Amino acid sequence: MKFFIDTAEIQEIKSLSNLGLVDGVTTNPSLIYKSGKDFKTVIKEISNIIDGPISAEVTSTVSNEMITQGIELAKIANNIVVKVPLTKDGLLACKELSEKNIKVNVTLCFSAAQALLAGKLGATYISPFIGRLDDIGTTGLNLIKEIVNIYTIFKDDIKTEVLAASIRSPLQVSQVALMGANVATIPPKIIMQMMKHPLTDSGLEIFMEDWKKTGQKF
Ligand code: G3P
Repeated sequence: MKFFIDTAEIQEIKSLSNLGLVDGVTTNPSLIYKSGKDFKTVIKEISNIIDGPISAEVTSTVSNEMITQGIELAKIANNIVVKVPLTKDGLLACKELSEKNIKVNVTLCFSAAQALLAGKLGATYISPFIGRLDDIGTTGLNLIKEIVNIYTIFKDDIKTEVLAASIRSPLQVSQVALMGANVATIPPKIIMQMMKHPLTDSGLEIFMEDWKKTGQKF
């Protein structure tokens, strides 16, 4: 499974990229706002660090404007993926941009039926938001399972990759991996949490204490 990181913070991207853990980056208008930086400048900066796919989201809700914005975003670097919302206009833009060989990530997906539409219209990625489904008392992980199953049944027709988004815990990362999601976009904080286990920490402490007791030097 590929790891994308869900952030527009350059320092976080650089540090995780140095660890070899970044296959791509996803951003959205909220993450751009949080970064405090100019949208196109920050996307360009990310593209100077990361070779893999970088999702940059359109800021219009009208299809023809989304298409114009998508074409402009795609010119920033050759690894830009244009992110469009899963609306009728977004799907129209997905179809047009995909036909122009521009990669599209269809975002804000909350049902398998929506994912089926994006798949039929040539999306490169579908982004089901699992955390936000959990927030309203449903089980977001079920959606990943359904979409992976549907796309597998129709694998000859649908080439769209399942990009599990809105991830809130290390457990969700391993669960979406088990379900066969192609990609997980993960906040940097969660990637750091994935490395941690209390038994690793306590085990290491004992090993280090016992090593000191040997009186040896390496
Ligand atoms: O990038 C989209 C998605 O990952 C957002 O997550 O935590 O704002 O629901 P969240």
